[in-house]
Amino acid sequence: MQKQTSHRVNYRSAGELNLVDERSVDLVVTSPPYPMIEMWDRDFCVLNGAIQTALSAGECARAFNLMHEELDKVWNRLHFLVKDGGIVCVNVGDATRTVKENFQLFSSHSRIINKFLSIGFQNLPNIIWRKTTNAPNKFMGSGMLPPGAYVTLEHEYILVFRKGGKRNFKTPSEKQLRRESAFFWEERNQWFSDVWFDLKGAGQDLNHDDLRKRSAAFPFELAYRLINMFSVKGDLILDPFLGTGTTMFAAMAAERNSMGYEIDENFRRHISNKLPEFSGFANKMIQTRIASHGKFMEERLRNGNPPKFEIQTLGLPCVSRQESDMILRYIGSIEDLGDDTYKANYTDISDGAALVTTLSPPALRGAKRELNRDQIHLNLK
Ligand SMILES: C[S@@+](CC[C@H](N)C(=O)[O-])C[C@H]1O[C@@H](n2cnc3c(N)ncnc32)[C@H](O)[C@@H]1O
Repeated sequence: MQKQTSHRVNYRSAGELNLVDERSVDLVVTSPPYPMIEMWDRDFCVLNGAIQTALSAGECARAFNLMHEELDKVWNRLHFLVKDGGIVCVNVGDATRTVKENFQLFSSHSRIINKFLSIGFQNLPNIIWRKTTNAPNKFMGSGMLPPGAYVTLEHEYILVFRKGGKRNFKTPSEKQLRRESAFFWEERNQWFSDVWFDLKGAGQDLNHDDLRKRSAAFPFELAYRLINMFSVKGDLILDPFLGTGTTMFAAMAAERNSMGYEIDENFRRHISNKLPEFSGFANKMIQTRIASHGKFMEERLRNGNPPKFEIQTLGLPCVSRQESDMILRYIGSIEDLGDDTYKANYTDISDGAALVTTLSPPALRGAKRELNRDQIHLNLK
């Protein structure tokens, strides 16, 4: 049984990715610098001086393509590192930019889809992450006068690719780990929708003099969801553009191992500052998942749907048999092993303890009474 995970950050360019074994990665969750978004110009120009020349000359199609060629080097490498049946999730936004008074869209998501198809990945249904903004200046162009007003970009993409066919779980222990990695039925209904409305952008302030002003981080929930959706406990998750470490932290919370690359060494301090408080955050989030599930099951019961199955380790009812072997664990401790390597240790959530700490007493009593009536075994203390 997996009760520890390991995590490593490599402060070097993702163009290398040579510290990862071939065919060792189960899932990639990442968000690269976005081509033609001005905040990333400098990063791209450092990688290839011709990008600066193209930008200065107003040759935007050429600059866009050269930027993507830098990302292509990373995508090419992923094809060797990802296992057969492994998945790659790329969060990216398209860019709008005015070059020489000419406003246009630079469609990074379609460029990246074409690249992944060309190197042998299959595209699975993608997710639109809808990020609404109420900024007063969100509309661009000619205002109320047609036809020169421009539609506002209020979404990003999470592109989903698979290497080869469906992943096989062959041995009994592989099958068991898969069952233990199940998520709640109601989470499936929410997570596997192709438009995510419910995720707010992550806080962007970094508050470190030596770091850029905006973190460009994606929200913890985005990485945590994708990891739960597309990998199992004990898997290796890779993020070639780790930034503030969101993917690593989400992997820790989800009992997966992780490896990250980040070119800016100044994130080291940011990540180590976050570590001491992280287990508290992660465990609260696990409690919230369990409490939300308890409330969801209460609601179903009130609507005349008595539960048929039980999650053994949590002593909680559930909708489907697939959830019944699910195991959630708290993070017991996180050790800093030096050399940008960390180890997370986990503790079991014992029967009923999860509910006792998360549901309010009246809700708890109600759940117990209702469920007993339906002959569901609940070991509530
Ligand atoms: C969009 S941000 C990713 C943010 C991250 N998902 C998070 O939650 O913090 C892209 C990151 O890639 C890093 N980066 C840019 N070029 C890189 C390269 N060649 N190799 C590795 N990291 C790079 C940037 O410093 C930045 O932190």
